[in-house]
Amino acid sequence: MTKPDLKTVKKQPEPWTPDTWRNKPAKQLPNYKDQAALERVEEIIGELPPLVFAGEARNLKKQLAAACRGEAFVLQGGDCAESFSEFGANKIRDTFRVLLQMSVVMTFGGAMPIVKMGRIAGQFAKPRSSDDETQGNVTLPSYRGDIVNRLEFTAEGREPDPQRMIRAYNQSAATLNLLRAFAQGGYADLNEVHRWNLDFVAGSALSARYEQVAADIDRALTFMRACGITGENVPSMRETDFYTCHEALLLPYEQAMTRVDSTTDTWYDTSAHFLWIGARTQDTDGAQIEFVRGINNPIGMKVPPELDADTLIKLIDKLNPNNEEGRLSLIARMGCNQVVEKLTPLVRRVKEEGRNVVWICDPMHGNIEKSSSGYKTRRFDNILKEVKGFFEVHRNEGTHPGGVHFEMTGQNVTECVGGADDITDEDLSSRYHTACDPRLNANQALELAFLVSDELKALRK
Ligand code: PEP
Ligand code: CO
Repeated sequence: MTKPDLKTVKKQPEPWTPDTWRNKPAKQLPNYKDQAALERVEEIIGELPPLVFAGEARNLKKQLAAACRGEAFVLQGGDCAESFSEFGANKIRDTFRVLLQMSVVMTFGGAMPIVKMGRIAGQFAKPRSSDDETQGNVTLPSYRGDIVNRLEFTAEGREPDPQRMIRAYNQSAATLNLLRAFAQGGYADLNEVHRWNLDFVAGSALSARYEQVAADIDRALTFMRACGITGENVPSMRETDFYTCHEALLLPYEQAMTRVDSTTDTWYDTSAHFLWIGARTQDTDGAQIEFVRGINNPIGMKVPPELDADTLIKLIDKLNPNNEEGRLSLIARMGCNQVVEKLTPLVRRVKEEGRNVVWICDPMHGNIEKSSSGYKTRRFDNILKEVKGFFEVHRNEGTHPGGVHFEMTGQNVTECVGGADDITDEDLSSRYHTACDPRLNANQALELAFLVSDELKALRK
């Protein structure tokens, strides 16, 4: 018998089960005082029905594989953090509606399918820069999202309460139920979505700029109608695929939602279609990386400016050892002033090493600042600048800019400054509602979609 060549023998990954993360150092997890209560909740959630079906996650992976090959583009968007208090049908509808509007504009510009994922129906847990918060001479645990504790700065409010996981599950189930109805029940009719866009363009300060695109889409739809392509005979004209995603952060919850898919005998986290690793929990040997490496959902990882190319390759190998297309998306969040400098070597290295990934641009998390009025905000122009820098890097490197990731809402909030309506620092106080980071409002989000669409169009030339 010949000895195997050690260089070509692939190291077998360590065995994985949904709880192996418990043997790894964990960051950003709440300190639950009552462990017995936590265990009871984990048991309850473990018995509750899955929120998504593994087959849906596999379909999403196929669509992401297309984005990986340069044949599709991803639109990921929604709240920074969902909350228990801002929960209602109108809010869900408005977020869904703006995402659809954006996707129609981007489909047209890119002439390719847009993969739609909402930061919704489970985006509750938040990483924090510090475990504690001090106000005056009082120090309390930081707010970690409504699934963990309350924003209210009292000892009782900030105490992590495992029961909140059950409420988050119920809210996610109700949200997802409505989203499925909207996506499949006629609300997503392409002609309707286009009519909303015409209304937006008509009322926008930038109408001259967008009227042409809107008119072009109008002509395309009229032509299709004349050919007999309508919502009645072509389901894709009135239905859409819409997927959910959130950060894989609160591992006791994610573990409890992880089940064996009976059709493939493999593990899926059924809390959402897509889970991502945040910028604060990506230690190669840490608990969150350990958890997501074993689930078969398509997954993402944020890429902050501090991440070096060697570590990135190590993480890619851990998260996508079979180099499967669509399995791993890298969501770069560099900041508008360093996106070209920091992203270029990473994109180049990943390409050189032949790793299959979808590159997505998050132009939000590297561009947070404090406004003169004291609010945490983001400037529309900086967000746009990062998006443009992202496209530039991929143009230079000959790689596919695979998607965008926004914190946004369908509501008319005033949290980010700038845009066509020119929201100023002074305006921020009028409708500042976010439970965490500042979001683009409906008009700002749509305006960005038109600008992304321009970039996608330029790419085709
Ligand atoms: C987020 O997406 O809400 C977030 C916390 O991002 P990051 O991990 O990139 O800071
Ligand atoms: Co955020």
